[in-house]
Amino acid sequence: MSQIRVVVAGYGNVGRGVIAALKNNPDMILAGIVSRNPDRVKKTVSGIPVMQIADADQWIAELRPDVAILCGGSKDDLPVQGPALCAKVCTVDSFDNHSRIPEYFKTMDSAANAAGKVAVISTGWDPGIFSLERTLGNAFLPGSRAYGFYGLGESGGLSMGHSDALRTIPGVKDARQYTHAVTGSIEKVRRGENPDFTAGDMHTRECFVVLEDGADPEKVAETIRTMPGYFAPYKTEINFVSQEYLNEKCAGFPHDGLVVAAGVTGSGNPARVEYRCQWGSNPEATANVMVAHARAAVRLAREGRSGAFTILDIPASYFSTASKEELLAKFM
Ligand SMILES: NC(=O)c1ccc[n+]([C@@H]2O[C@H](COP(=O)([O-])OP(=O)(O)OC[C@H]3O[C@@H](n4cnc5c(N)ncnc54)[C@H](OP(=O)(O)O)[C@@H]3O)[C@@H](O)[C@H]2O)c1
Repeated sequence: MSQIRVVVAGYGNVGRGVIAALKNNPDMILAGIVSRNPDRVKKTVSGIPVMQIADADQWIAELRPDVAILCGGSKDDLPVQGPALCAKVCTVDSFDNHSRIPEYFKTMDSAANAAGKVAVISTGWDPGIFSLERTLGNAFLPGSRAYGFYGLGESGGLSMGHSDALRTIPGVKDARQYTHAVTGSIEKVRRGENPDFTAGDMHTRECFVVLEDGADPEKVAETIRTMPGYFAPYKTEINFVSQEYLNEKCAGFPHDGLVVAAGVTGSGNPARVEYRCQWGSNPEATANVMVAHARAAVRLAREGRSGAFTILDIPASYFSTASKEELLAKFM
């Protein structure tokens, strides 16, 4: 089978991660990068075609992608780029606005079906791998609830969304936010209590903030602590630091998480399933998962399938480069 031709749509953290991941997947080749700002991309990339994302007919004709991996942001980019592009080429994206996934699925399903294309949506680690683990936990232990905890290590996990939220506050020059799981709450779940948690029962938030010259730390701290959704429901620690400290101590994008479901089997014996991910780089990990889904998207398309798919709809063997025989012999 010829190599799968992949176009990376959007050049940010995840886009760079996909380009790096493709080097470890010899059945795939980077056909090109498309961006709203090709000039910005060309400053750091050479030897790869870089085109304007809006010129979809042109780059599809020139780059001949089997699949485009959409690496734009979930808030503003994917709701527009997803339906427009899956009407022209098979796509994979990591749309992570959980409450809007049903609506996004519907839009993508209808656009992709009308065009006879496959659109794999909302993959990565959460949503993505953790969605699958929640589903399996609940199916194998009926009545159990699967809980997600993030930031289990000592330094916690870097939340890019919460870091972005901090940076929108007037007076904040730069910031990072680390999420910490409340270990006592994990133990309650492990004991099979299936508790009703508020968000603040499960996680705390640790902020590292660099202030603009002359900014009032009290005012910034108050804005952080009362920010609805992001910080107000949580115990939040705020550390004001220098830019040098932030650059040195808060480099990279580490994150981790755990899905845990506990219940009982037939005659009341306790049972628990757990699935843990640890990532030195959240965007690179997300990219790795997306690349495996690109392989699956192409396989589905070659079978004549179309419409939107999630990780829950795709057989695990479609992600793998291993043959059926290898899977049966080595992975069962
Ligand atoms: N499912 C999961 O587990 C999971 C995990 C992590 C992230 N995600 C999702 O992945 C999305 C992308 O994350 P990300 O970290 O790659 O976001 P990002 O770095 O902000 O990039 C998003 C888009 O912004 C543009 N961009 C990037 N850097 C820029 C710059 N310096 N100046 C101007 N524009 C720039 C790029 O589009 P253009 O090249 O077109 O300008 C890029 O595709 C997130 O929104 C999140 O929804 C999902």
